[in-house]
Amino acid sequence: MSPFAQELTSTVQAMMNDGKGILAMDESEGTCDRRFEKLGIPTTQERRRTYRELILTTPHLADFISGAILFDETIHQSTQAGVPFVKVMQAAGMIPGIKLDLGAKDLAGCPGEKVTEGLDGLRDRIAEYYQMGARFAKWRAVIAIDSRSPSDTCLVANAHALARYAALCQEGGLVPMVEPEVLIDGSHSIDRCYEVTERTLQVTFDQLRLNRVELERMILKPSMVISGASCTIQASVEQVAEMTVRCLQNNVPESVPGIAFLSGGQSNERATAHLNLINAKYAAQCPWTLTFSYARAIQRPALDYWHGDDANIPTAQQLLYHRAKLNSAARQGQYTPEMEKLDFRL
Ligand code: 13P
Repeated sequence: MSPFAQELTSTVQAMMNDGKGILAMDESEGTCDRRFEKLGIPTTQERRRTYRELILTTPHLADFISGAILFDETIHQSTQAGVPFVKVMQAAGMIPGIKLDLGAKDLAGCPGEKVTEGLDGLRDRIAEYYQMGARFAKWRAVIAIDSRSPSDTCLVANAHALARYAALCQEGGLVPMVEPEVLIDGSHSIDRCYEVTERTLQVTFDQLRLNRVELERMILKPSMVISGASCTIQASVEQVAEMTVRCLQNNVPESVPGIAFLSGGQSNERATAHLNLINAKYAAQCPWTLTFSYARAIQRPALDYWHGDDANIPTAQQLLYHRAKLNSAARQGQYTPEMEKLDFRL
């Protein structure tokens, strides 16, 4: 058992607590810059810092967000007034998390497929982040679907890395958020997504067990079972909820305490509606807490409104607060589309 077993259990409980979810804000510099470029925002370290300050200082965000995942650059940064972001989060009651992987790289021998890197020196990096105040960590594997992929090579290589990272996290006091993302890109059907998600989860849990990861002290961050973005037939909210829950029930052990979905390119409203129906209709039949760990589906309205102009910060923060609130409602099965239109002012 991990020497941190008790602390890991309390961290999991706090992360999954009280109708809350996790905010992902761990975009790498490259990803953050690409999103800034689309809006004409300067791609400087200072603009990225300002944007992350906007998010973390949103009043009352902690009512709906139990923790946020930071990128390495962000965990080292402070507010303009000089308060480290980690301290801001701790004071607000949000648990600092950290992205540990170093990105998905081309997988040799498997054209078009990726494997996530970052295991070298990971034990030392975990110790450093723990010292800085991080208490959970994520690692994202990406699984692309086309007629021939994913290959077993890709599934096993990624699952092995996820399991090695998760075991190191538990050894070092960080709750692992294990993220095998089946990508939405492509014209595949929802049935094909189900099949690939099932296989991905099976291989991932095989490797987690083989590497002695304590399943009761981790969180799974999966994609939903959903139609490919360019599939001509788009599954309904009902189908997505039913097939996502069925896939999880058939492939995720009961000992896993929490599942926090990524949004994966879904629209803001769809990501919320899916999570809502999953909880409203199926939570009672599921052994795990089912919540969100969205990046785009929570941040999008705030980023668009801010647009790099600091005069827009207060309204951008209200938009962020509103999206977090709607997803918190969805996580409790209490969201209705009418709530989208409600006055979002604080
Ligand atoms: P999205 O919700 O934008 O998919 O991001 C979640 C995440 O953490 C991706 O790794």
